Amino acid sequence: MSAKKNLDLGSFAQDVLIGLSSKPKSIPSKYFYDATGDKLFQQIMAMPEYYLTRKEFEILENQHKSILKKILSKNEPFNLVELGAGDGLKTKILLRYLDVIGADFTYFPIDFSGTVLEELKGSLAEELPNLPVKPIEDTYRGSLLKREWENGKPSLILFLGGNIGNFPLKEARDVLDHLRLGTVFGDEVLLGFDLKKNPQTILDAYHDKEGITREFNLNLLKRMNRELGANFDVEEFMHWPSYNPVNGECRSHLVSLKKQKVDITALNQAFEFEAFEPIFIEISKKYNLGEIKKLARRSGFELKEAFLDGESFFADVLWERV
Ligand SMILES: C[S@@+](CC[C@H](N)C(=O)[O-])C[C@H]1O[C@@H](n2cnc3c(N)ncnc32)[C@H](O)[C@@H]1O
Repeated sequence: MSAKKNLDLGSFAQDVLIGLSSKPKSIPSKYFYDATGDKLFQQIMAMPEYYLTRKEFEILENQHKSILKKILSKNEPFNLVELGAGDGLKTKILLRYLDVIGADFTYFPIDFSGTVLEELKGSLAEELPNLPVKPIEDTYRGSLLKREWENGKPSLILFLGGNIGNFPLKEARDVLDHLRLGTVFGDEVLLGFDLKKNPQTILDAYHDKEGITREFNLNLLKRMNRELGANFDVEEFMHWPSYNPVNGECRSHLVSLKKQKVDITALNQAFEFEAFEPIFIEISKKYNLGEIKKLARRSGFELKEAFLDGESFFADVLWERV
């Protein structure tokens, strides 16, 4: 994954103001990804504990032919649309295969980061120069409402990497309602879901021994210091991930280790923290296959096939719009 470097300071300041004025306090996870956050996330993806990227890579490497079978069997030009494309590292497995077999399709990567899209477009122009690419700079929901790829051809929509897991269930349902609005009968969607598994395995992925995830999360405070003139003492905050096996939610918090006050110059405001008061920073929800099937049905799709890795840690599921 890569990230959002071009979010203007105004929206960052505004979101921090809203988040730190809320109870409980929170900061949107999209602000993890400045240049430092990008580098730290690359390190996270390489950690032995962080199975998510590796497992989805394995699924796409081993099963891309089966995944693409249905759309290819239509024997007609199609749209390959991707929500939150990022650096497209895993998608390139599908793109290379489609290129080799000479499939007639257009790739529409969607991301709300223009920088990420520019980088992706550049790397694709080098690697797959004949591939028609039409980047769309927009949010998931905005792009699904506008359907800029609408051209009468069938579409396969990719929503990989457990991106849907970054929403609590109620909001995930809303995103999936938009997915229904953005598709027509017969369209396919390939969604990535991190599966429920041994809670320790899940927790370890967000709490590595080397402390890279801790650094990554604390970078959010450092970023506020750098960009908003805040004076967070990062040593006085603790990275605290937790996993609830009942609802499958893995939530990360930064916990204030003492009663303290933090000034944020850009907001011209101070924020009080109670001792051990948490700031909620990220959710990564896990599902089982039964829940995924139910989610498909209530969203107006039918689960056609689930592609799993060898350990059943992760699933890329193929839904068809009904
Ligand atoms: C975690 S990365 C995953 C990238 C890639 N899909 C993968 O699986 O490796 C998420 C990407 O989605 C983008 N993104 C996150 N939330 C988004 C939203 N609401 N609308 C559009 N793009 C979003 C981010 O900019 C980032 O590039």
